[in-house]
Amino acid sequence: MDELRAVLLGRMKAAFDSVEEGADPVLRPSERADFQANGVLPLAKRLGRNPSEVASQIIVAAELDDVCERVEVSGRGFINLTISERFIAGQLSEQATDERLGVPMASDPEVLVVDYSHPNVAKEMHVGHLRSTIIGDALCRMLGFAGHTVVRENHIGDWGTPFGMLIEHLLDIGEEKAVHELSVGDLDTFYRQAHVSFDDDEQFRERSRHRVVLLQSGDPETLRLWRVLVERSVRYFDDVYSKLGVLLTDDDIVGESFYNDILSDVVRDLEAIGLLVESEGARCVFPLGFTNRDGDPLPLIVQKSDQGFGYAATDLAAIRDRVGRLGAKCIVYVVGAPQAQHLEMCFAVARMAGWLPEPVKAVHVAFGNVLGADRKMLRSRSGVPVKLVDLLDEAVQRADAAVTGRDPSLAHDERDRVAQMLGVGAVKYADLSTERTRDYTFDWDRMLAFEGNTGPYLQYAHARIRSIFRRGNLSAPSSYPTPNLAEPAERALGLALLGFAGAIEATLEQWSPSRLCSYLFELATAFTTFYETCPVLKAPPDVLPSRVLLCELTGRVLERGLDLLGIQAPDQM
Ligand code: ARG
Repeated sequence: MDELRAVLLGRMKAAFDSVEEGADPVLRPSERADFQANGVLPLAKRLGRNPSEVASQIIVAAELDDVCERVEVSGRGFINLTISERFIAGQLSEQATDERLGVPMASDPEVLVVDYSHPNVAKEMHVGHLRSTIIGDALCRMLGFAGHTVVRENHIGDWGTPFGMLIEHLLDIGEEKAVHELSVGDLDTFYRQAHVSFDDDEQFRERSRHRVVLLQSGDPETLRLWRVLVERSVRYFDDVYSKLGVLLTDDDIVGESFYNDILSDVVRDLEAIGLLVESEGARCVFPLGFTNRDGDPLPLIVQKSDQGFGYAATDLAAIRDRVGRLGAKCIVYVVGAPQAQHLEMCFAVARMAGWLPEPVKAVHVAFGNVLGADRKMLRSRSGVPVKLVDLLDEAVQRADAAVTGRDPSLAHDERDRVAQMLGVGAVKYADLSTERTRDYTFDWDRMLAFEGNTGPYLQYAHARIRSIFRRGNLSAPSSYPTPNLAEPAERALGLALLGFAGAIEATLEQWSPSRLCSYLFELATAFTTFYETCPVLKAPPDVLPSRVLLCELTGRVLERGLDLLGIQAPDQM
């Protein structure tokens, strides 16, 4: 649809220009036709002319004969445009022979750094990290497909004062036990017990503070213990990533500790430019435009009163590194909405310091919470935050139960594979299909349903297409016929197929994978209607090749679309 829209928009713009330079055609999808141009009325008013006369002039100037089969003026100069079947068919033929399915390469490929997932060492990954991981992964896939150079950075929390406490706790319970707890993914117990000791035991607190000093001064034994914590936790994160099937690898880890050596430079340089202000013993920058509720300027604390560097200093150092060393033209932060102010302040300070020069962009891709059925933060039955691995395992189990009995011809190990794709796909799709800034309710039954805007529905649509090919002993056509779009359902499916490029473009423009999800859902729905009204295998010989083409192209767009979301498409289920 968007391919067509682009063509139409070009013609209409030129025609409006011929009446008044720069006049907006206001082209919209329409119920009455395919598109409606609503820009005539305001234009006619401005010129003091009769709207239908202006409309007629524009229609002639637009030269739409090859694109439109009907052009009508209704009401007060609304131009209704109906695309011709020939034009849609021609575009479809091009899409079918294009490996990229009509999705253009970016005209201005850029280096983008995507900061996502970023769990914290020796701390359980929570659902916020799940969202970041899933959304970030989908965006990286799409950016890469569009031809950009994508640098994935997993900014794990692996440094800072909590490590004094964590290392002391490791020593208290013994290295062996600590390694075991972390290896089996019991990060929660480990972290909680460390915290209990810290809260209850003055001596432990003292030891922890001393340990932080040792860590920061590079004491070899302390660093070794710290590394044990990091390595074990990373191994656990890797388990979660491999269950999720995301692109992240250990090479993408650029944790907070990475910037340790340049934090003092960051502070020194801020000092030299005259941006640092001493406030209650801490060293801060007050970026313009950030105030608290009382209207007082808000500080971004760069160095705390105890000389320690904070989260903000690390983020400033990271911006410098990403722009300076990596040459990023855009830094994308896939981070929960509560950190919006922190990030905006970091961006503002980095701009003031010249570390984020125009036109380099920094974007906060914020997202909302995951809620339980009670509309509160998602918790397990026992009341503790849910563990991600448990969530994924449960998803696969439930998917397995859902596929059982659907397709008896599915071999046992094949069924396991399908359950895996379905369960993980359902969790990912439920996350991605919700407009990201909104909270969403984690609802097993809804996300695993085979009907509605769900992962399984799209996966099923894909499997169904493959099964048509299996049953009909068809192979992908070696040359493509010109599609026949005489039936309304064929025409609607054709139009839907052409919308793929536009959906990806909209997703990247708004950093919102839900756009691609809505598109794929519409496509699958159009396919369902087509399949219910137009026989394929039993089609009359003259339309059979065309219908096969529509099926094949739909299957490819669904598969590629799901792949760009990080979701696998089974051939059978
Ligand atoms: N580790 C942090 C957390 O769990 C998120 C880090 C986000 N990235 C960043 N550059 N600040 O909340």
